[in-house]
Amino acid sequence: MNITLATCTAADIARHQEDLIDLLRDAVESGASVNFLLPFPAAEAAAYWSKVAAEVAGGERVVIVALEAAGRVVGCAHLALAGQPNGAHRAEVQKVLVHRRARRQGIARRLMQQVEQAARAAGRTLLVLDTETGSPAEALYTQMGYTRAGSIPDFAIRNDGGGLLATTLFYRRLS
Ligand SMILES: CC(C)(COP(=O)(O)OP(=O)(O)OC[C@H]1O[C@@H](n2cnc3c(N)ncnc32)[C@H](O)[C@@H]1OP(=O)(O)O)[C@@H](O)C(=O)NCCC(=O)NCCS
Repeated sequence: MNITLATCTAADIARHQEDLIDLLRDAVESGASVNFLLPFPAAEAAAYWSKVAAEVAGGERVVIVALEAAGRVVGCAHLALAGQPNGAHRAEVQKVLVHRRARRQGIARRLMQQVEQAARAAGRTLLVLDTETGSPAEALYTQMGYTRAGSIPDFAIRNDGGGLLATTLFYRRLS
């Protein structure tokens, strides 16, 4: 699959909204713990992406997308820039998503590399993230050089409502 990466403006997010809704719903429906519960209506996903577009416009968030040759979005990764005065060196990696039809081709690895470039460009030298304990994403972040800081039991409700899931916190220094 021929994939290019692009950093989105708010207008790009609006232009790709249909694909982005599909990407997020695909992740939730695949069982991923990405903040939302099933059933996950398109309107809820649309509201999420509108909020994201506003944060991009406000300079609080960077959104990188993976585009296949036809220009359709098959993946994304976000960098939420900490806004606190004492956190100006820090950012959180969020919503690393690759559509099921495009997984295991190195797209997430490329998105993570691009996120790190964006962090450096924004003067951010500490990246933090959390992910479901035992999920495939844990292997991704470990492979990308992130350090496991610890695990919190019962952190999130399973997306089918059937119990609670632990999360693992990771960090990476970019110096
Ligand atoms: C996690 C996710 C982003 C990986 O995307 P991907 O493009 O398939 O990942 P890559 O092909 O770049 O894989 C990079 C590395 O991650 C690890 N990895 C990815 N998927 C894996 C899986 N299903 N099982 C085990 N390890 C996996 C491997 O170490 C892999 O390296 P390798 O292929 O050399 O073994 C994707 O499965 C996804 O979107 N999942 C649902 C959403 C989610 O959970 N996101 C994380 C939220 S924090």
